[in-house]
Amino acid sequence: MAAAPIETVLLFGGRSAEHEVSILSARSVLDAAPSQRIRLTPICIAKDGRFVAPERSASILLGGEKSDRGDDDFSFEAWSRDANPDIVFPLIHGTDGEDGALQGYLEILGLPYVGSAVAASAVGMDKAHMKYAFAAAKLPLVEYVAVLEYEWRSDRERIVRSVNNALRLPYFVKPANGGSSVGVTKVKNDEDLAVAIDKAFRFDEKVLVERGIDAREIEVSVLGNDAPEASVPGEIVAGREFYDYEDKYVENKSSLVIPAKLPKEKVEEFRRHAVTAFKAIGASGFARVDFFLERGTNRLYINEINTIPGFTNISMYPKLWEATELKYSRLIERLIELGLERSKRRAARDETAMKWFEEVKSLT
Ligand SMILES: Nc1ncnc2c1ncn2[C@@H]1O[C@H](COP(=O)(O)OP(=O)(O)O)[C@@H](O)[C@H]1O
Ligand SMILES: [Mg+2]
Repeated sequence: MAAAPIETVLLFGGRSAEHEVSILSARSVLDAAPSQRIRLTPICIAKDGRFVAPERSASILLGGEKSDRGDDDFSFEAWSRDANPDIVFPLIHGTDGEDGALQGYLEILGLPYVGSAVAASAVGMDKAHMKYAFAAAKLPLVEYVAVLEYEWRSDRERIVRSVNNALRLPYFVKPANGGSSVGVTKVKNDEDLAVAIDKAFRFDEKVLVERGIDAREIEVSVLGNDAPEASVPGEIVAGREFYDYEDKYVENKSSLVIPAKLPKEKVEEFRRHAVTAFKAIGASGFARVDFFLERGTNRLYINEINTIPGFTNISMYPKLWEATELKYSRLIERLIELGLERSKRRAARDETAMKWFEEVKSLT
């Protein structure tokens, strides 16, 4: 007898600039998931941050409805208690989806979910904390200076001096908790630095200034829990001066080269570093690790990790797995299995803790 399908909530949308991308990712998953194995119930988080009931969520996913506002009379908590799904697949990028907040909420509700848990999600979202974790794992980082808003407000000159001392032009200025290149500026002369920092502070209270490097952009997909594996590397060839928001979502002139054209030993270096990065932040399930390969020196630097990577059937993450002989439909299934595996172990640990607690109580 065939096993019953895994009841899976497909969470999509969210409040970030990547709301529309999330809809595309979720639509691809809905189309490709093997229906005998996985039964999907789509649930949207509207742009106002509130949940949408399953029926209207499904029609948002099919393109028939707008997703500006949630449903006033729908409670996700009450619904999930009643429906009792096996697992949630959160495919929401950026703020409130990828940064651990949503993962914490699902923990509180006692719902298993796909992907990284709270701490790894939070570290993977904050580019400063991410760098601390990468540095501890001895991964090669681009030189940078981190700036806090109150420091910037109290002594701009000092910050500008420390940037000038630490780095060479051009600089890249970016909000620490960004995504989709929002608020990222390439600074080519010193006069433009302050404006770029001011701009980045519109999006966050922490800003990073990095040495801008002339580099190829190489990305690797990682999959797994305790023994994560790396895909072949792929390359993003930006259509504009750098891979900015316009390039990602408006002009679409950038292209993916899969697999990236690299010598064998570089391929292995990227894959090894990708797995190290995944472990460094304590990720689980999936993540895409983005690198720079500096022209001229041929040196590799780690740029960032994304714990909820773009997941349409033509996105880098699944495409890299397809090139590594793992089909999109099977990848979806594998991610759900990994999420269930993690939650089973968590439940076993909770039980151990409970028993221990009962024993201690009986002794006192
Ligand atoms: N230090 C840097 N040197 C060269 N290019 C950079 C640097 N930092 C960022 N970029 C460019 O800006 C893009 C977006 O920056 P990134 O740090 O990846 O932010 P996001 O999280 O928004 O994707 C990169 O894909 C790359 O094209
Ligand atoms: Mg990026």
